[in-house]
Amino acid sequence: MKVLGLSFGKKNANCDILTKEALFGAREAFPSAEIKFINTQRLTIDRCIGCGACSTALEKGKDNKCIVKDDFQMVEEEIRSADAIILAAPVYVLQPVGQFKNMVDRFSCRHDVSAINWVLDKRRTGEMPGNADDYPMDRLRTRTVSYISVGGAVTDDWTSMGTASLHLFGFPAMMNVVANYNANGMGHVGNPYIDDELIGHMHEIGKRTAEAYGKDKKDIEFYGPKGMGTCPTCHQNLLTVDGTTRVTCPICGIHGTIAIDGEKLTVEFSEQEQARARGTFAGLREHTTEIQSFGSICGPKIMANKEMLDKMMDERIKKFDETINA
Ligand SMILES: Cc1cc2nc3c(=O)[nH]c(=O)nc-3n(C[C@H](O)[C@H](O)[C@H](O)COP(=O)(O)O)c2cc1C
Repeated sequence: MKVLGLSFGKKNANCDILTKEALFGAREAFPSAEIKFINTQRLTIDRCIGCGACSTALEKGKDNKCIVKDDFQMVEEEIRSADAIILAAPVYVLQPVGQFKNMVDRFSCRHDVSAINWVLDKRRTGEMPGNADDYPMDRLRTRTVSYISVGGAVTDDWTSMGTASLHLFGFPAMMNVVANYNANGMGHVGNPYIDDELIGHMHEIGKRTAEAYGKDKKDIEFYGPKGMGTCPTCHQNLLTVDGTTRVTCPICGIHGTIAIDGEKLTVEFSEQEQARARGTFAGLREHTTEIQSFGSICGPKIMANKEMLDKMMDERIKKFDETINA
């Protein structure tokens, strides 16, 4: 059992403190567990440059490595070999700090279970080169993760997209989410130590995250000390509305129906919708299929207009540089 603590906060500050307390909890449950802690603040994790080299390599029968070389590779290897992960990030302007998003863009897309499986299926039938057994998919799908969002604000109003955004890290890799916690009121370094209840929750999160490793998603009970949330799959409270009673969970991409009874609001998400949430194989496959169809729909149109498009691109860039950018 390997438990990884990943903190995107300042060194020895509140994200570190909370992650380490969760790791103490994991150690209490599994005295012989290998425990690793990484603080990312001084690491270089540059942005995804959108080059597509990773997916092209995969389709050519190679590993889908990221060609931007920095500290990302070390962190990725630690994540790959971890069974249970505790991830904490500070809220900077309502959302997790930017470095976390760099990590998500470079890690999570490349570990999309459906996209990788699509290629592995093609390797099995010989349509694409490479060994189909290169990826330990079954093990990867039983990994667990818990999220801790850390903000200085004393109410949830200024940490509103913290925990929700943290969920973007593990859903493409189909990690099983055990818990999330919105730790607000953390404006001063050391704040967690004056809140015994908070420290208790961190130990419980660490313990449960380690204990849930290897279990089937349906056998894992979500731990939500601050509530179970509106969405039954990600347990978040964010909803987008379209002016009707239909609402969408922006994290899971599933639709529900809103009902109001006096002061009480409920949202009904059908079993069918829950089964196509983004963090399920079916939900990820919907998007893989969508992406694959871009080529067949746009490809012929682009090829038919290629000469005109190339000319127009050159002309518009030249015009912009000579006029607006001059
Ligand atoms: C640039 C910046 C923006 C911040 N924005 C928010 C915010 O929108 N909401 C909030 O609750 N805290 C905000 N904070 C406070 C931090 O989330 C808080 O201090 C947290 O404890 C930092 O984590 P750390 O102690 O692990 O570094 C901000 C801090 C910085 C430096």
